[in-house]
Amino acid sequence: DIKGFAFDLDGVITDTAKFHTQAWHALADQVNVTWTPELQESLKGIDRMGSLEMILKAGNKQDDYTHDEKVALASWKNNHYVELISGLTPDDILPGMADFIKELNDKGYKASVASASKNAPFILDRLQLTDSFVGIVDPSTLTANKPDPEIYVRAAELLNLPPEQVIGLEDAASGIQAINGAGEVSLGIGNAEILHDADIRFESTADLTLANIAAKLD
Ligand code: BG6
Ligand code: MG
Repeated sequence: DIKGFAFDLDGVITDTAKFHTQAWHALADQVNVTWTPELQESLKGIDRMGSLEMILKAGNKQDDYTHDEKVALASWKNNHYVELISGLTPDDILPGMADFIKELNDKGYKASVASASKNAPFILDRLQLTDSFVGIVDPSTLTANKPDPEIYVRAAELLNLPPEQVIGLEDAASGIQAINGAGEVSLGIGNAEILHDADIRFESTADLTLANIAAKLD
């Protein structure tokens, strides 16, 4: 029986994925790396420094910068990103998601957040959703990042539930892999071609209800 939910944040609860994309694209332009749809998709779920490395690698430039220069590039991107998210309000919660989270809270299901983003506490605050979750995994305490399962293992620990009683929600292939590796039920939101390893899938957050999930789990 499912008793809890572990949520990715960016692209699941709110459409901050588009702001990450905007800020990384600007950085890629700055370091003269060609931006492609494939590069864009592959960055979803990947932590900050990991994303920078992937962008530089796409342009064969991973050896052109010192560690300190890379840290400066990553913080340039983050400053740009933080500007983009500074005006978020509860209206920016994705369609149906506020109702779904409320349904979970009302019916006694526990929820935690498994986001690679160090900005997650700030974003949840802006969306006025902090109190809806029993906890947020602190990504700075992880030894490995998505697609490694560690973040979803930790999210289940926050829920105090065994992994088989937890559904993980993700918009990225890296995240679905992490959920599957943790032994939880993976729920993908978005494109079937990208989320082909998800146990169940919804086209949009608007379709998320406990009844719709139960119907797909049979
Ligand atoms: C993930 C996003 O949730 O968080 C990635 O999908 C992002 O795009 C990562 O790079 C890290 O976020 P932040 O806010 O710590 O730079
Ligand atoms: Mg995501």
